[in-house]
Amino acid sequence: MQCLARAAEYRDDDSGQHVIRVGRYAALIAEQLGCAPVYVSMLEQAAHLHDVGKIGVPDTLLSKKGKLDPSEFERMKLHCEIGKRIIQPTNDGKWNQLRRNMVRANVLSTASSPMMTLAATIALTHHERWDGSGYPGGLAGEEIPLEGRITAIADVFDALSNERPYKDALPMQDCLNILEEGRGTHFDPHILDAFLACLNKVLEVKAAFADNRSLKSSQ
Ligand SMILES: [Fe+2]
Repeated sequence: MQCLARAAEYRDDDSGQHVIRVGRYAALIAEQLGCAPVYVSMLEQAAHLHDVGKIGVPDTLLSKKGKLDPSEFERMKLHCEIGKRIIQPTNDGKWNQLRRNMVRANVLSTASSPMMTLAATIALTHHERWDGSGYPGGLAGEEIPLEGRITAIADVFDALSNERPYKDALPMQDCLNILEEGRGTHFDPHILDAFLACLNKVLEVKAAFADNRSLKSSQ
């Protein structure tokens, strides 16, 4: 699973730290919300795969410096459904027969584990918005699974607060202002409150897992 997350990461972020930070931020938010430790732990791992569907997006789009045009954006949006298809439990008959015939069938149980089910949900729903204007489903409010709402804030905060090929990192106060502007439109207000309540811990993670952009360029 870690290898899959890394593979996706290297498609559009040359530091490799984005998925680690998003997983930690999601776990901190879930902790703040009072979620059970086993859920918090699974959420952190599962959130690493939120953008695994970008494996199916052309490099030209991922590395484009300017804004995506409408057709390019439609192509980019497909990464949610591609990600779910990569992760979700399979119902393939041959696969299930193979599992039944194996002495240690549990080695193939990863595809149907609770964590991978969680990861598939996150991959599909992390771009939904609280007001229903997100994608791919246009889900609104609590129709959006909790893990999708949590990962949305973690992912957007990380994107705003770090450099990307097409943008500089924003000052922290600007990041927080943008999150506030999304309260009740992009983000679940209750989850945004939880994020803000653990901001000190978030900033510790940000510092501990800062991007090292010289790493990939030297390889
Ligand atoms: Fe995404």
